[in-house]
Amino acid sequence: MDDATHPSLATNLCGIPLRNPVILAAGACGYVDEIGDVLDLSRLGAVVTKSITLEPREGNRPWRILDAPAGMLNAIGLANMGLDAFLREALPRAAACPTVVIGSVAGNSIADYVKIASAFDASPRLPAIELNVSCPNTADGLIFGDDPVSLRALLAEVRPAVTRSKLIVKLSPNASSIVKLAAAAVEGGADALTLINTFTALAIDVHTRRPRIANGTAGYSGPGIHPIAVRMVHDVYRSVACDAGVPIIGLGGVMRWEDAAEFLLAGATAVGMGTALFVDPRLPLKVVRGLERWVAAQRCRNIGELIGRVEMPRTAAMVRRESSALNHPEKT
Ligand SMILES: Cc1cc2nc3c(=O)[nH]c(=O)nc-3n(C[C@H](O)[C@H](O)[C@H](O)COP(=O)(O)O)c2cc1C
Repeated sequence: MDDATHPSLATNLCGIPLRNPVILAAGACGYVDEIGDVLDLSRLGAVVTKSITLEPREGNRPWRILDAPAGMLNAIGLANMGLDAFLREALPRAAACPTVVIGSVAGNSIADYVKIASAFDASPRLPAIELNVSCPNTADGLIFGDDPVSLRALLAEVRPAVTRSKLIVKLSPNASSIVKLAAAAVEGGADALTLINTFTALAIDVHTRRPRIANGTAGYSGPGIHPIAVRMVHDVYRSVACDAGVPIIGLGGVMRWEDAAEFLLAGATAVGMGTALFVDPRLPLKVVRGLERWVAAQRCRNIGELIGRVEMPRTAAMVRRESSALNHPEKT
């Protein structure tokens, strides 16, 4: 139903209809259907698979997951079954998955990304492909997602290889400017953006004086990163995505419906949840129910009416421009 007492949560992500904006994030819910044992996937917008690499990977040695203040650290190291096993064993199960499935791609060379993205593009079960660009490019040592030049070079090869599926680019918050990175992704042909991946972090055991995660550094996620992620979504929406008509999946520390609502007001079309699933895998359903009540309380018919609708304070520069226009109308 689509009135202010029974509002619709249905949303459209770059041409893919989602029944609601809540998405399970890459790496937090296995390949496709494992999480279906504890969570009714038919009540969610979409699920993103674990990132898949060309070859199987064992990942980093333990410890590779740790509690952290207001979140968690992980250095899983992209442990996954590799492309062939994924296509043979996991992807067919996606057919039974009662929601949209998005395939996540990772690699350490442009050629890896192209091969995996092309294989995903050939599968009708994956209407969208998410590029996890937080992986080192072995050729130049840079992380694709930390540098707009490397990201452009990656998309110049991957974009033409993806002809059927929508291409989503997942951005890293560790770049010096996430807005420049988003602009590079949009110029490179991204159909949508996911913001954000984890923050590079370090926890030290003060007794042994060694890192608490075997890898050394790790990715920080969870509620502690949420306000920063909201600010990044807001910046990218205002500077790049809104004018380009490219939707954003807001991701980072969503535990409650209010966190998801903040992302929508900041400019996100959909909202991902990762760390929350380690706390309670049913939290996404609570978020969906909370969003339903919120949209009704805001007297909206459709959740889309609230996208980007945060009312920010006017800056001093805006006030100056407005008063100059009033005093000198001939200049405007
Ligand atoms: C254990 C774990 C594994 C992850 N694996 C992946 C992955 O394979 N690919 C990816 O793009 N992001 C991965 N992420 C990052 C999440 O998808 C998400 O971007 C990040 O955790 C921030 O969201 P959150 O605070 O809701 O967890 C992983 C996160 C965690 C906690």
